[in-house]
Parts: sequence; C-alpha cells; structure tokens
Amino acid sequence: MHQNKSRDRDLPGREVHPKDNPKLISKLIYSMYNLKLNIKDVLYWMDAIQSSNDKNKTLESLCEGQIASKVWLIEQLNEIIIKVNLNNMKKKTKKIPDNLNVLVCGGWYGVMATLLFNSNIKVNNVRSIDIDPGCKPIALTMNKHYKINGKFTAGTCNILDFKNYNDYDMIINTVCEHMAWDDYYKWLDKIPKDRLIILQSCNFKEYSTHISCVSSEEDFKKKCGVTNILYSGTLELPKYVGKFSDFKRYMVIGNKNG
Ligand SMILES: C[S@@+](CC[C@H](N)C(=O)[O-])C[C@H]1O[C@@H](n2cnc3c(N)ncnc32)[C@H](O)[C@@H]1O
Repeated sequence: MHQNKSRDRDLPGREVHPKDNPKLISKLIYSMYNLKLNIKDVLYWMDAIQSSNDKNKTLESLCEGQIASKVWLIEQLNEIIIKVNLNNMKKKTKKIPDNLNVLVCGGWYGVMATLLFNSNIKVNNVRSIDIDPGCKPIALTMNKHYKINGKFTAGTCNILDFKNYNDYDMIINTVCEHMAWDDYYKWLDKIPKDRLIILQSCNFKEYSTHISCVSSEEDFKKKCGVTNILYSGTLELPKYVGKFSDFKRYMVIGNKNG
C-alpha cells in the first residue's frame, strides 16, 4: 500500500495540547506550533524561497529542526533576560538593555532574525553576518519588513574578520559545529567580556560541514569558553522532527565575566 511519509509527520500531535498528552508532544514543540508570525514575514519568506537559485537549500533553513532550535533559543533567552533584570542572578551579569542590538554570527538566510522580531524579546536591530555571499540577498528578502524599517541589516564576512562586536548587546552563534576550534577561540577572543553570548552546537558528525561537534552538553560547556554560564541545555528533537533519531543540539548562554 502506498504510504505518504509527510502524513506520518502529521500524526504526533500538531493539534494536541501538551497537557492532554505530555508524552506525545513536548512543551517546546507546542510553543513552536503556537508561535505567531507576522503574515508579512511569511510572505517575505515565500518571496525569498521563490527568488532563490537553490530553493531546497533555502527551504532547509525553515525545516522543523531548524525552527525548533531557534524557538528554544528565544524561549530560554526570554527567561534569562527576566532573571538577570530582576537581579536574581550572579552579579557578574550586567543588566540586559530593553532594546537589544543583536548580532547573528553565521546568520545563514536570516531565519533567526525573523523569529527574534516576532518574539517577546525587545529588539532594536539585528545584523546577520555570514561568510557565504549567497546568504545576504536571501536574508534581506526574508527580513524585508525589518530592512525597510531600518531594523535589519545583513553582511558578507568571516566572523573572525568582523570589527564591530562592541556595538552589540547580544551575540548569537548557532554555527559552532561549523567552525574549527582554533577559529572558534579566535572568534571568542574578539567578544567583549560583558556581552551576552548565545551559542549552539550539536553531536551530529555525519555532515561534512560539521567539523567540531561536541559529544554532550557537559562537553560543550567545557569547551565553549563561556565562563559565566547563565543557562545550558540539550534539545533532543523527536524522531519525527529531526531526520536522525540521535540528533541533539546543545546551547550555552552567558558571558566571559566569570
Ligand atoms: C548550515 S548554516 C547554519 C545551521 C545552523 N544550525 C543554524 O542555523 O544555526 C551554517 C552557516 O555558517 C556559516 N559560517 C560558517 N563559518 C563561518 C564563518 N567563519 N564566518 C561566517 N559564517 C560562517 C556558513 O556560511 C553557513 O551559512
């Protein structure tokens, strides 16, 4: 009998509330399916796909696993901002400004930026930089609404050559697995000590571009060089979301003030 694979992916409960069936669907996936996106952004995402030379590659940046790991980042960051600003956290962490200037390192096609603009986090502006020149035009289309309003910019550069880290309150790097450790540490050295750094890596070595994976959350915490860790966690994507059953993403939020 003919089996429709995409239907299998519908079954685990896009319509199920986690309270009704907590085993079936995690809180994160529930949040992800309930994230509210400005319809203008959805239309600009579609424009970006349509105008891409490689539509499948652009679509890859919008797959469930990619969105889930970014929604996870936003959720945890929201909690950290509340805790830090209520003064419940370590003194080494300075108050996080109300209207954040955000730099996304290795920002790819700009999906992180759109999701941030649609979140509860108050964002003044986002700059997305990527070494691949093909990323900038797509990121600008994905975030056209914010580009028009002067809130989003994109640039092509190696994050090791970027000069203006001082201009940003928060620096996101979710591409740690794509950087050789030597380069990663050179990059980390450039970040001012008191800036909020958000890092993600993963355990999945099978991709040729994943050149410095970590084996666990502890491994990532040890290697990432963030000395004042405000949050660390592991995201185990359900089988139906990730292509691979043992694909774990790790995240560290903190600064170098420790
Ligand atoms: C496959 S994508 C991102 C996947 C990741 N899970 C995410 O969205 O956070 C990796 C991106 O990192 C970029 N990249 C890798 N090394 C870089 C560097 N040194 N400077 C700037 N961008 C870099 C690549 O060009 C690519 O666009």
